[in-house]
Amino acid sequence: MSRAAAHVLPPFPGLLFLVGFMGSGKSEVGRRVAAHLGWAFEDTDRAVERERGRSVERIFREAGEERFREAERAVLRGLSGRVAVVVATGGGLFLDRSARILMRQGGATVWLDADLDTVRSRLGSGTGRPLWNAADPIAVRELYERRRAVYALCRFRVDASADTPDEVAARVLHTIRAVYH
Ligand code: S3P
Repeated sequence: MSRAAAHVLPPFPGLLFLVGFMGSGKSEVGRRVAAHLGWAFEDTDRAVERERGRSVERIFREAGEERFREAERAVLRGLSGRVAVVVATGGGLFLDRSARILMRQGGATVWLDADLDTVRSRLGSGTGRPLWNAADPIAVRELYERRRAVYALCRFRVDASADTPDEVAARVLHTIRAVYH
């Protein structure tokens, strides 16, 4: 990057949010992007599990989805002041308007866009993911399509079908380095 180019580009944001459907590779890719940048990595699902002392699946079963949603929004708010963190977000978090505003104002949002066949092959029967119902392909497609329309509100979109996490991570880095210095 030349000095002149760096001068006109905005500074790199302190938080990088990876957004996308279950099975799009947010955690695998996020860990690699964080390692490349020398940043910390957080996964909102794992943070909720740490704080609640229970798996996501158990929280859904015992307390209900709305409790889980509150917990993930709280995790997001806790990340707000931090810098140099790559965040893999649970697939439903960006659907919430207030969460979306926090992410879009507090950092760069990157949609990892994986096609449904890729998602299916990665998730299989979907153990541990209460909203993935492999036995009902119509419902799955409907959820997938509905969510794509919202994920499209991310600042960046990166193709995350088929390729390895290393390749997708390289694509994420390339995409954001073209815009920030
Ligand atoms: C969810 C996705 C999951 C997890 C929870 C709900 C969703 O995270 O947050 O099961 O609503 O799409 P991943 O996207 O990491 O699978």
